[in-house]
Amino acid sequence: MKIGIIVHSQTGHTLLVGERIREKLQADGHEALVVRMQNLENEKAKNPIDVQLDSLPETAGYDALIFGAWVQGFTLCPGFIKYVEQLQDLGQAQVCCFLTQQFRYKWMGGNRAMFKMTRSLEAKGAVVKSTAIINWSHKKREQQIEELAERFTSQYKA
Ligand SMILES: Cc1cc2nc3c(=O)[nH]c(=O)nc-3n(C[C@H](O)[C@H](O)[C@H](O)COP(=O)(O)O)c2cc1C
Repeated sequence: MKIGIIVHSQTGHTLLVGERIREKLQADGHEALVVRMQNLENEKAKNPIDVQLDSLPETAGYDALIFGAWVQGFTLCPGFIKYVEQLQDLGQAQVCCFLTQQFRYKWMGGNRAMFKMTRSLEAKGAVVKSTAIINWSHKKREQQIEELAERFTSQYKA
């Protein structure tokens, strides 16, 4: 399968997780690509309207999509919200979603951000199959990333 891993990543954490998923998918024989977007200027803008993205990654041309973003101010980063707002209908595409956040526990913004992420993608016609949150300061971060990559990859096994 050709799998697109589309991430919004400012400082590289979300990108790194995306790369780990890519490696596992490739090891399983898939064609997997990581496409990163970032905010230009005004990096800490709170309102999607104030965010300028460096790119708007294509969602067409893949057999499956994985989206990654991060937690900003206890909710979903506005750059990703802005990105989803401009997407065309995803036509029942089955997607996986993940988030990174600094704090150790998912209730410190992660759960709320994930609710927003899944709802906004569903509003664009996606069917969310699997989600995960990586807590960057958690001592088991490596294990979290490994489990996420394993779980997402298992979605695409024949
Ligand atoms: C302006 C700002 C607000 C943030 N708010 C939160 C937050 O509410 N909760 C949290 O756990 N992490 C928060 N973080 C940390 C990021 O979610 C975390 O570092 C994330 O992994 C960054 O992803 P990236 O490296 O892909 O950009 C915040 C970071 C910034 C810059």
